[in-house]
Amino acid sequence: MRLKIIGSAAGGGFPQWNCNYRLSSAARTGSSGLRPRTQSSLAVSSDGVGWILFNASPDIRQQIAQTPELQPPPDGPVRCTPIRAVVLTNADVDHIAGLLSLRERQPFALYATKEALATVEANSIFNVLDPAIVPRRRLPLAGATAICDAQGRETGVMVENFPVPGKVALYLEDKSRPEANFGSDRGDTIGVRISGATGKSVFYIPGCARIDALLRARVEGADCLLFDGTVYTDDEMIAAGVGEKTGARMGHLAMTGDAGSIAGLANANIARRVFVHINNTNPVLDENSAEHAEVRAAGWEVAHDGMELEL
Ligand code: MLT
Ligand code: MN
Repeated sequence: MRLKIIGSAAGGGFPQWNCNYRLSSAARTGSSGLRPRTQSSLAVSSDGVGWILFNASPDIRQQIAQTPELQPPPDGPVRCTPIRAVVLTNADVDHIAGLLSLRERQPFALYATKEALATVEANSIFNVLDPAIVPRRRLPLAGATAICDAQGRETGVMVENFPVPGKVALYLEDKSRPEANFGSDRGDTIGVRISGATGKSVFYIPGCARIDALLRARVEGADCLLFDGTVYTDDEMIAAGVGEKTGARMGHLAMTGDAGSIAGLANANIARRVFVHINNTNPVLDENSAEHAEVRAAGWEVAHDGMELEL
């Protein structure tokens, strides 16, 4: 199974278009150790020919342009794509806006939970993907699903999905009921265990509000974990002066702190652990920083666009 992290940044990307915080600003000037990153997406292939995208980022056009494996093969028909399916882990804008760029009457399959499919259904602009050409398939919240292409042919990629502590997408928040926007465990946000013919498995969890005993047990023994690396400290966006929200308020747990991901998974048996979905305020983006060194010393890798994993 081949995996390519085609987008390693959180919503907004890095540098973010309107951000002048020191990290975005340094990345813009090409400072060493600060790689630009596109928004959150993972490509997976079991046979090296057909690819499954996990989330469709607003940067998908650029991601395809940077990834030859996702482009029509030179000897292919006049309209074609190696992209067989898109699996959504939630309906956040950085995970679904790219669907609009996949129009052009090209068959592929769309998989998502009932909640995420309802958002696609409720927004008629997504009808640029005619469901007769791009079938919408519901991911059951239990058991394994063999991911198939639009015609129903198996891709060799299996997905087991499970709800993770999260929240509804920012734009779906009910402003009159702030308490209802937190702590959703129902399937607004899921994690996925991805496996192929090799029997190895990778967990992809780009958004997660909390590590509980259930999640810890689930990832125990994993060959690889790609996990929410949005913020380094919970209040870093406030400290950076770019916003009023904590990571927790956005449904993302911090890397550090007692309730953070590094501490929460310190004793788990996971062969390889990689942070993805990294926000433009996170100091680990600077490869020369003390924070980057600290995360590496704790056994974590920091994803960058184009990072490849073979399992
Ligand atoms: C998130 O991950 O919290 C969202 O992508 C934020 C956003 O809407 O950009
Ligand atoms: Mn996001």
